[in-house]
Amino acid sequence: MTDPIVYLHNSFIPLTEAKVSVLDRGFIFGDAIYEVIPVFCGKMFRFEEHLSRLNNSLNSVKIPNPYSSEKWLAILQELIAKNSSDNESQIKSEPLSIYLQITRGVAPRNHIFPDNIKPTVFISANPLATIETSVLKKGVAVVTMDDIRWQYCQIKTTSLIANILLRQQAAEQNAVEAVLIKDGHVTEGAASNIFIVKDTIIYTPPKTNCVLPGITRDLVVEIATELKLDIREEAIPQQLLNNADEVWLTSSMKDILPVTKMDNNNVGTGLPGPMWNKLHQAFNDYKVNLCE
Ligand code: PDD
Repeated sequence: MTDPIVYLHNSFIPLTEAKVSVLDRGFIFGDAIYEVIPVFCGKMFRFEEHLSRLNNSLNSVKIPNPYSSEKWLAILQELIAKNSSDNESQIKSEPLSIYLQITRGVAPRNHIFPDNIKPTVFISANPLATIETSVLKKGVAVVTMDDIRWQYCQIKTTSLIANILLRQQAAEQNAVEAVLIKDGHVTEGAASNIFIVKDTIIYTPPKTNCVLPGITRDLVVEIATELKLDIREEAIPQQLLNNADEVWLTSSMKDILPVTKMDNNNVGTGLPGPMWNKLHQAFNDYKVNLCE
């Protein structure tokens, strides 16, 4: 699709016609929050969970939620329909990723919240690239870096300059992600959550202000629990990370991605591990069920 339909200022319009004021506080201050929701076979993946995190982010930054849950659902479903092919079988094979941003709104620049300001809502639905089988077979490389972000990482804010700098630095070292270390413990990736496996025990950091509560993360915890695997939401010292048998990243854009190189060293055998295989299979089954 050359000019996708987006949602802005209460209307569905072509992307090329979507315009926002330069005085929008999202542009001036990064005074905004966002969500990324995957869509498989025309259905939103864990919609309620994404909406609940959206509400938490809005409450944290004191931006009023402009719509009811029913209205959000209706808008997003209409946007998905407008950006899906008319061909029924193609709808089933084309995953999308919804990008949804709410800014505090437009006003002359002033750090203090302006009175009577109306939030700006922008939503787009973009093709979601699935991870190539060749990448999953080989795994990916990451580098560890100092977590230079702020103290409210649980808020999904568009103020992502620290994450961008970290991710860019990782890319310049041919790594797909920066794995972040704070006070000797791993927090998460610059745009993903992290899991490690040591001696068949799965660990992921607990949901604190140092971590974005990932929707994919929560599902992986849920699936591992259902499979009766030993999964622990515990702080992970860097030492444990360095000696891990397996490392995985999770996000709405990546599902569960096996990490096989960290700081140029092999993780475990240097190939995706058996625990990843098990979880990845179960995660795919979950997605297939969603589509039936
Ligand atoms: N990022 N941690 C951070 C810092 C993230 O930015 C993300 C997702 C996650 C994973 O969350 P989820 O499983 O809900 O996608 C963890 C999105 C995809 C992004 O910024 O594009």
